[in-house]
Amino acid sequence: MEEIKIFCPATIANISCGFDVLGLALDGVGDEMVVRKVAQEGVKITKIIGQELPLEAEKNVAGAAIIALLEDFDTEFGFQIEIDKKIKPGSGIGSSAASAAGAVWAVNELLGRPFTKQELIAFAMQGEKVASGVAHADNVAPAIYGGFTLVRSYDPLDVVPLPTPKELFATVIHPQIEIKTADSRKVIKTNISLEKGIKQWGNLGGLVAGLFTEDYGLIGRSLEDHIIEPIRSILIPGFDEIKEATIIAGALGCGISGSGPSIFALSRGIETAEKVARAMKETYLKLDVDFDVHVSKINSEGIKRIKAHT
Ligand code: HSE
Repeated sequence: MEEIKIFCPATIANISCGFDVLGLALDGVGDEMVVRKVAQEGVKITKIIGQELPLEAEKNVAGAAIIALLEDFDTEFGFQIEIDKKIKPGSGIGSSAASAAGAVWAVNELLGRPFTKQELIAFAMQGEKVASGVAHADNVAPAIYGGFTLVRSYDPLDVVPLPTPKELFATVIHPQIEIKTADSRKVIKTNISLEKGIKQWGNLGGLVAGLFTEDYGLIGRSLEDHIIEPIRSILIPGFDEIKEATIIAGALGCGISGSGPSIFALSRGIETAEKVARAMKETYLKLDVDFDVHVSKINSEGIKRIKAHT
């Protein structure tokens, strides 16, 4: 295989109670990317459609992730990348992760799959580091595995794929403002009280247990963030109103998607997820901010190959 075209899904990181450790992959929303083998060694980004992003490989998250991979794998050829960037940077739904994870996933396919998913996550994290200054894995892990993932440990890296209850749907509202992950990480505190820690890890355990047992009530009760949301939500117009409206519409829970500004809700069944979407729209129409709303099933496949001429 000399060339591959792929779809890289958008992702929701943190999922309220799992800052930097939990994530899930969305369906239908994502980037497309073509990666091809070329005679010239190294990595060259030849085209980026949709967004203004650096073409220099080491400054581009996709390029940086492939450079990290090639440090572990000698080739006498190189790679060219074309990115169709449909996920806006600074949207909170894993824009940089889609590029970084997609790039290393595609290169691994072209090389005959020498690397495991965990190894690909480690390379993709180097792309995340270029984007936000921090090599977090909670977006790249679900992009690569699909479904829900838990980063049990960063050192050594230990990512655990989690099951997806069949009736779970996500609704995401993306206010058209940009919040850079690097900036929204600066506002959070690095120390937490034991009291908040107890609440947070109780919820994290509850959410994981709820996913395994398909206990939607437990999932809903666990979608609470006592540490990050109270601080970051101040940066998101209408956050409290949206949260209240989604719960009234029947969502199991609602929180900030990644570092924001997108807000996500999880619901049982597509009808409730669509009702939640309508409630989000009605709430946001009262504010002077443009927005997009998506309803999505949880994407169980992660990054996938697509036909070259679609
Ligand atoms: N865990 C990261 C953060 C995700 O919240 O900063 C960024 O998408």
